[in-house]
Amino acid sequence: MEHINSYMCRYKNYNFAVSLTTAEHLDSLQSFEVRDSDIYLVTYPKSGTIWTQQIIICICELDGVLNEYPNNLEQMPWLEYTEGRADYSLRPSPRFFATHLTPPFMPRGLMDKKAKIIYVTRNPKDNLVSYYHFSSAFSGLQTPKSFDCFFEDYLAGNIPGSSWFDHIREWHSKKDEYNILFLTYEDMILDLKSAVTKICSFLGKKLSEAAIDQVVEKSTFKTMKKDFKANYEFLPKEKLKGNFMRKGQIGDWKNIFSAAHSERVDKLLQEKLGDLSLKFIWE
Ligand code: PPS
Repeated sequence: MEHINSYMCRYKNYNFAVSLTTAEHLDSLQSFEVRDSDIYLVTYPKSGTIWTQQIIICICELDGVLNEYPNNLEQMPWLEYTEGRADYSLRPSPRFFATHLTPPFMPRGLMDKKAKIIYVTRNPKDNLVSYYHFSSAFSGLQTPKSFDCFFEDYLAGNIPGSSWFDHIREWHSKKDEYNILFLTYEDMILDLKSAVTKICSFLGKKLSEAAIDQVVEKSTFKTMKKDFKANYEFLPKEKLKGNFMRKGQIGDWKNIFSAAHSERVDKLLQEKLGDLSLKFIWE
């Protein structure tokens, strides 16, 4: 692990927040034993991880296959972090893991295409703004000196999670090697029921219409904000000064971006991902 500063370290060209993981642990993931029933939720930070986590957990709960855990973080722990980590080989199935990792770090067993991966993308302008606010609220991240400083670091990938642009490219270019469903945060905002239905069908769960409506109700921003198991307010106050559940909207970037910021992102998006024909919803 190469130490970049007191908040960030780098391993195999990918940036991590300090003290969360080790090179040995990351290397050990290559041979991590994958079960066919495993579900992996993959995101770049601040793309809708805890939201999709809640949807997956609610679906499996209503399907009657869930083991009891005190909250969503313990139900779906991070694959890459070592803090508070139990021996996952002893966990009963079905197992759920969240991760911000890129394909080279992922367990090789996922290439059997049996275990399922859900990858959620969020438009980079809202993603950047969400990450900016979270960086001020979360003690493990460096508080940005200004929005402009964070903006430059985000575009250069000088933050934990590295470059949003590289993350999207790497996962899209490897899509045929995994059993993977791509979703976007914006599609989930615009039609949560159809996103829940898509996830159900990908997970092979046959829920009734009423059960799907229940999942939708439990996963709205308003309900999740009050749901102690899902809203991450169970984290110690000294770790998190603000909320994981901040605004939950499309288009918040307009409240802070200048026209020049917006143009810079548009230009980079075209340069870095233009050939992938991805469509983004900005408002
Ligand atoms: S993390 O730290 O990477 O796990 O964060 P992540 O969960 O990926 O992203 C947090 C943002 O997701 C928003 N969120 C939601 N939006 C809409 N509906 C629901 N139910 C929901 N749950 C979480 C959360 O508010 C963060 O976005 P911002 O824009 O900061 O509000």
